[in-house]
Amino acid sequence: MTDSSETKHKLYIETVGCQMNILDSEMVVADLRRRGYELTDNTQDADTILFNTCSVRQHAEDKIYSALGRLRLTKQKHPEKIIGVMGCMAQKDQGRIFQRAPYVDLIVGPGQLQQVPDLIERARSGERQQSALSLERTAGAAADIRRSHETFDPLRDPSMRPTPFQAYLRIQIGCDKFCTYCIVPMTRGPEQGRPPRQIVDEARILADQGTKEITLLGQTVNSYRYKDADGMTDMADLLGMLHEIDGIQRIKFVTNYPKDMTYKLLETIRDLPKVSPYLHVPAQSGSNDVLKRMKRGYTVEDYYAMMDRIEETLGDRASVSSDFIVGFCGETEAEFQMTVDLVKRCRFKNSFIFKYSERPGTKASEHLPDDVPEETKKRRNNELLAIQNVISEEDNHRFLGQTVEVLVEGPSKKADLAAAAGTPIQLTGRTHDDRIVVFDGNPRLVGELVKIGIYDVSPFTLLGTVMTEHLTMLV
Ligand code: 5AD
Ligand code: SF4
Repeated sequence: MTDSSETKHKLYIETVGCQMNILDSEMVVADLRRRGYELTDNTQDADTILFNTCSVRQHAEDKIYSALGRLRLTKQKHPEKIIGVMGCMAQKDQGRIFQRAPYVDLIVGPGQLQQVPDLIERARSGERQQSALSLERTAGAAADIRRSHETFDPLRDPSMRPTPFQAYLRIQIGCDKFCTYCIVPMTRGPEQGRPPRQIVDEARILADQGTKEITLLGQTVNSYRYKDADGMTDMADLLGMLHEIDGIQRIKFVTNYPKDMTYKLLETIRDLPKVSPYLHVPAQSGSNDVLKRMKRGYTVEDYYAMMDRIEETLGDRASVSSDFIVGFCGETEAEFQMTVDLVKRCRFKNSFIFKYSERPGTKASEHLPDDVPEETKKRRNNELLAIQNVISEEDNHRFLGQTVEVLVEGPSKKADLAAAAGTPIQLTGRTHDDRIVVFDGNPRLVGELVKIGIYDVSPFTLLGTVMTEHLTMLV
């Protein structure tokens, strides 16, 4: 199956999209490294070039198709180089990728990533245009479709992560919500919770590898459920199990679905100190008519009721962030203003704002015309972002003069690493509720939990100085 512990293959991998994709790439790279591959950061040196792709918006796909286009000549000159397309775009576009870029050697859906090493070997031995894809949602019995979306989580490789002390941990794959704009239920298949034992075992492995912070991943992570002979385990139960693991100091989770933000879950978050009070709960729109067209399954009133539950249970410990789509099919100016109103009323920590991008294969693309002009989408995007930024900065003001606990992640973009040996540099870290903090400190603080006194804020960052006494010795 593998050729090579002697010959080192060189792998170039590019990842776009969400945290799931980043985790999937970590697994694929870990798998290939165990089979003798080395990473390279450029396509010239690579004998294997992989793209882990995203389909959630057109822009993400365009980026990959142009990257593939740039490799056309490379492949002509070096036919021995293997080019692979993995992830959501592979699952969505399937054979159309070979039509647009016939020199691609393999396409692999997000449910088949464990086959990547094998497919590469087959392509290298001359079998062209390999593909491994999941069944489409209507292509067979429910159990077969579910099985065809296998999770791929056996291999963890801390050296593959930006920091060895932070890791993603998948608890759920797929999605059954079928929001009308969204391609994810098609590319990642039916919602399936992973067995809690598996998740806890993997968290233990991560803790043994020195992981302090785990981020649990699922498309609707708080809808997590798993039923077996022992009964039903939900998200709150799972958090309780993970909280017991020594070494794990912080537990985050994304992305949440508003309707499943129950009192039970919020009380668990309140009572378990390792669990982050950062709640990313996309609202998508502030208009009930738009929410209905999106088939989100809740009303604006439901969303406000959820915000009240959060406030009531967690008070100002909680930080809530959201996603919005502007310019969805038929969105009027009045409907957009309702989104503005919701943003003003909810005062999110931050919001991710996207212009609607029609996705072939979704219900919206079949039944609802993409009729809001691009210019209008752009204007609404900018307007909402400007309003959110003012709120974000105002929200950060309450931290002025306060001391926050930060997990130090690494040098800031500005840090002068060359000058770093033993002297303080600019570092960044995150608070328990996911705020970015910038401060000067010794690089040895990376990976530590440190107390920082905040003296200035912007919409996106808190600026501070190290307060922790024994660590100031290190600074
Ligand atoms: N167009 C624009 N944004 C989208 N999202 C999902 N599908 C689309 C689409 N077709 C956004 C949603 C989701 C986030 C991950 O991406 O806001 O929460
Ligand atoms: Fe897409 Fe809706 Fe599922 Fe989120 S909940 S992944 S937006 S279908």
